[in-house]
Amino acid sequence: MRRAKISIIGAGNVGATCAHWAAAKELGDIVLVDIPQVEGMPQGKALDLFQASPVEGFDSKIIGATTYEPTAGSDVVIVTAGVARKPGMSRDDLININTGIVKSVAESVAKWSPNAIMLVVSNPLDAMVYVAWRASGFDPKKVIGQAGVLDAARYRAFLAMEIGCSVEDIHALLLGGHGDDMVPLKRYAFAGGIPITQLIKPDRLEQIVDRTRKGGAEIVGLLKTGSAYYAPASSTVAMTEAIIRDKKRILACAAYCEKEYRVGGYFVGVPCVLGTDGVEKIIEVELDEEEKAMFQTSVDHVKELVKAVKM
Ligand code: NAI
Ligand code: 2OP
Repeated sequence: MRRAKISIIGAGNVGATCAHWAAAKELGDIVLVDIPQVEGMPQGKALDLFQASPVEGFDSKIIGATTYEPTAGSDVVIVTAGVARKPGMSRDDLININTGIVKSVAESVAKWSPNAIMLVVSNPLDAMVYVAWRASGFDPKKVIGQAGVLDAARYRAFLAMEIGCSVEDIHALLLGGHGDDMVPLKRYAFAGGIPITQLIKPDRLEQIVDRTRKGGAEIVGLLKTGSAYYAPASSTVAMTEAIIRDKKRILACAAYCEKEYRVGGYFVGVPCVLGTDGVEKIIEVELDEEEKAMFQTSVDHVKELVKAVKM
């Protein structure tokens, strides 16, 4: 049987860590790509990771490159290319720079791997997945943004810490964009099948929801030199695994919603069934009035972000 091929564009913290998790899980052969200005960096990281394989016992071919030829015919392409916000830069500045990067990356992905599923990680996520979709011309089911798996993982980790139970027993759902107005749902979070609303007092639960919304900023504040990468990469690889192994997992992803949730043609975080064909189904959950209002605020923010995109 042919091994799956996974290309990761952007061999920085998130990209290289994606390569690490994906290789350890033997999801397929991996190509790590970065720009010619850092020639040697993706090759060095790929060789270093490959040299861990005899010790760890995984069979994945891992190569680095600064061109797209080696990515040809990829099954999944993960896009982590981009720059992080620096002092003095507005959000619009970041959108403009990363739009240019993600647009050119998506065009190259479409040229070299026309049948791939593209997973976008670059920020601002909800706008960048839109840019990647437009630039690639791919079926929207095959362009998916990673945010919800990470944000739900943070929510689950905080809930497990509070309850004092295994993270494995916490399941949670989170909707909306990858910003401070994301919607960690309280009614759809469970510990061992028990609604967390029965286990955590309302004011404490509200604090956990707030910490989840600011989870990315908390890590930036601690690291000072960059943003989170272990949990973001782990989340991206969970999506990659669901696609490559056709697992039909239900994961919160930034998926293209037209009639779904009455979004009207934007990528926002919603529960999706992920399999070989990408987003195979979007699940519409019942929301009460308060949840609907929070979701709408988040969707409005995503629309504003997309309006700021100049392609
Ligand atoms: P990083 O700075 O460590 O790596 C980014 C890499 O992209 C660099 O190696 C850079 O040379 C490369 N790059 C720039 N332009 C490129 C191009 N045209 N083609 C190929 N590679 C290119 O940054 P990090 O920490 O890996 O984050 C990457 C992106 O992911 C950022 O935009 C960050 O904000 C975002 N992010 C998103 C998350 C999410 O949940 N959606 C979570 C964490 C990070
Ligand atoms: C995060 O949530 C920076 O989007 C990134 O950690």
